[in-house]
Amino acid sequence: MSNERLEGIEACVFDAYGTLFDFNSAAHAASDELGSDWQRLSELWRQKQLQYTWLRGLAGRHADFWQVTAEALAYALNTLGLDRPGLHARLLDLYLHLRCYADVPATLQQLRACGMKLAILSNGTPSMLAAVVRNSSLDGVFDAVLSVEEVGVFKPHPAVYRLAPQRLQLEPAAICFLSANAWDAHCAKASGLRVIWCNRFAQAAERIPETPDGEIGDLTELPALVCPQP
Ligand code: LAC
Repeated sequence: MSNERLEGIEACVFDAYGTLFDFNSAAHAASDELGSDWQRLSELWRQKQLQYTWLRGLAGRHADFWQVTAEALAYALNTLGLDRPGLHARLLDLYLHLRCYADVPATLQQLRACGMKLAILSNGTPSMLAAVVRNSSLDGVFDAVLSVEEVGVFKPHPAVYRLAPQRLQLEPAAICFLSANAWDAHCAKASGLRVIWCNRFAQAAERIPETPDGEIGDLTELPALVCPQP
């Protein structure tokens, strides 16, 4: 995909888990207990967490992301025969202390320096998001931290993506949405946002409707694409 500069962008809105915050860092931090199983656990936990959000959305049975994350973790621990006392609680607590990716702090600073508004738009609950922002020392960096709890349904429901222009009081085309989750990037595009897929994991392109406006390997490439030229 060739990346053209996106003109007229006034805000960058980021997905949280997988884009700003490394969801693998929770299981990795417990690798003293999990040994080499940490990766399999992390992968299954994430897969189930997302599946549960989609299933709950389709079934019209919303529960918040903290509950879904806990339920997905219980399933994953159970499947891998890892139900040990205290491990579920420990991993859930670690989910509030996920590390941000190395490229995040400097990129956000650069974007702010070029006058960009910054926000998060995530499945996470307000308290989960506040915790990861605080624990990565990103307090005060974002103009808005938007949670799907405001609309009571998970991504990729269109109501979620409409929150960004509504709350930032901008036209959808003045917002660049960033996600490392390809399905999230495609679905955001349907709501009129400009979208860049941050393909951190070098994944193949999805075969689903809509196409992001661009693709980058990590966030360091972003300022050159959205900041106004001096
Ligand atoms: C989020 C998930 C999709 O932060 O990563 O919304």
